Amino acid sequence: MSEKYNAALGAYELISKGEDQIILGIGTGSTTDLFTEHFLPKLRKRINSVFSSSNRTTNLLNNFGFQVSDYDPEVNLDFYVDGADEVDENLNLIKGGGGAHTNEKKLAKIAESFICIVDESKIVQTLGKFPLPIEIDINQNEKTLFELKKYSKNIVRRELLSDNNNYIYDLHDFKIIDPNKTETEILSITGVIDVGIFAINKPRIVIVGENSSYRLIES
Ligand code: 5RP
Repeated sequence: MSEKYNAALGAYELISKGEDQIILGIGTGSTTDLFTEHFLPKLRKRINSVFSSSNRTTNLLNNFGFQVSDYDPEVNLDFYVDGADEVDENLNLIKGGGGAHTNEKKLAKIAESFICIVDESKIVQTLGKFPLPIEIDINQNEKTLFELKKYSKNIVRRELLSDNNNYIYDLHDFKIIDPNKTETEILSITGVIDVGIFAINKPRIVIVGENSSYRLIES
């Protein structure tokens, strides 16, 4: 099986340790899709409700017979399972390759346990080889871009809008030395809806899929 499959298996084995009813959040991307397709049905009897981070994930969940609950900041998720584009040695992440980081972060914030599932290629020493996704209010574009040029001169707008109907820009060639500070700084720029750095709400556990197994990295 693939590294991504084994990472998803690791999340399943971790969640399966309990017997209580659970509230789950599901991220977006090919690794979380594997979790939904192969393992979520096995947890069906224990699942109280499921929250989704994107339209794409909602469609997949519906295809597997799961009704998705409306986002509610007052709800506590027992587990939030999601992938990442990069993971550094302190478990800070870059996310948003699939353009869903704003709604993913909302779920990560209300999760008791954020389990991040990745293949080996996502592990890096310093974040920033992967272009940093930023969702920007569609009406605030110009001023916001001016501020973001302080971080990178190589900023590319994606053709597709986000699920929230905003622009997504990718900041290339931007090494993120202090993820927590950079996340806070970028979030304070007018027009920024959210940035794909997950340092303030980083996972407690990262499961790295290997060829025939997986390993856990815990904070
Ligand atoms: C989507 C994400 C994904 O988690 C990230 O892009 C990883 O995707 P994949 O599991 O396909 O490698 O942040 O917005």
